[in-house]
Amino acid sequence: MNYQGTLETPVGPRVRIDGKEYDYFCGTSYYCLHGDRRIIEAACKAAEQYGLGPATSWDVPPLQEVEARAAAFFGTTHAHYFVTAYLGTFYLVTALQDEFDIIFVDTKSHYSVFDGIKGVGKPIVLFAHLDPDDLAQQLQKHLKAGQVPLVITDGVFPMTGAMAPLRDYQSILQKYDKYFLCVDDSHGVGVLGANGRGSCELHGVMGDSVYFCGTTSKAFGSFGGIIPGDTVLMGKIFRNVRVTLGASPPPVPAAAAAAMGIKILSEEPELRAMLARNVAYLRKKLQAIGLPIQNSPVPIIILYSLPSVDLAAVQRFLEEQGIMVRYIPPRGYSDAPDSDAIKITIFAQHTVEQLDRLVEVLSRAL
Ligand SMILES: Cc1ncc(COP(=O)(O)O)c(C=O)c1O
Repeated sequence: MNYQGTLETPVGPRVRIDGKEYDYFCGTSYYCLHGDRRIIEAACKAAEQYGLGPATSWDVPPLQEVEARAAAFFGTTHAHYFVTAYLGTFYLVTALQDEFDIIFVDTKSHYSVFDGIKGVGKPIVLFAHLDPDDLAQQLQKHLKAGQVPLVITDGVFPMTGAMAPLRDYQSILQKYDKYFLCVDDSHGVGVLGANGRGSCELHGVMGDSVYFCGTTSKAFGSFGGIIPGDTVLMGKIFRNVRVTLGASPPPVPAAAAAAMGIKILSEEPELRAMLARNVAYLRKKLQAIGLPIQNSPVPIIILYSLPSVDLAAVQRFLEEQGIMVRYIPPRGYSDAPDSDAIKITIFAQHTVEQLDRLVEVLSRAL
């Protein structure tokens, strides 16, 4: 696969692609930790000491450390670390499979959510994207007396950066005796909420009946999925999700890197403050040139198609000027809109000069 040329440096605010330097506004490494020396060194040291991994065994310190650090970060007693957050919702719904009757899913949820919920063989009902009223209607229409719903959605949608209205969903669900609210928060963890715990923290929906999975492959600068929780949830995961028994754990250097990424974000809250500052700044600057950009703490900005503007040409113009953003074709990803768009990712390490130049070049291109 080759989307936009070959990257020749670690991801950062400035990268080299096919021999040319760019200001880089793509990807999901919101703190550029994938290229951080401490993370690279942690991975190398673990590789030297333990090799790639212990095959199917889990008794290696970096694998234990990443789970302990994740639990501390998310304020839970435990966490489970696994090979990709793509499996995160599969883990959650499979762990809970004996306790609910019908799955209600946002129509634009990530591919991983749809693939994950298929495995449990329960009825699946779609509700309109980001729409609590439609969720309420679908619940009313499909649930019989005594049946338990499980609602599942992305916390932050990867292309548009839209945030699921989790508080509204929970208010609706609280009318039922028992419910589950499950969130794929791959883009929220490490970024949103007072402690960086993600969308559930931001929207105040932590607690019983609410479960989420995240990734260490984006904000935390490494690789691998994570599910924080208590012993009860961990018990259900190990009882019901056979991947935990039948597959090798993630590579040990990745675990060591993930542990280091969580450590860095725990100990350096200023990184989250830098990102929040950049997000607010760029959103305001884009609003000032007349673009319909919403206020939001999410470091993903989408430029929807505009009348008589060729967004593919805009992306090419920016690239010629040494600025890399991502062009999204119509329906080009799980939550991508029906018409084309441009996605801009903001990093904590972008300088004000880079943000200003992006806006200036973009305003010339539009
Ligand atoms: C919403 C969402 N869930 C899950 C994943 C998979 O996460 P990972 O990077 O851990 O494979 C992605 C990847 O981009 C994603 O955007």
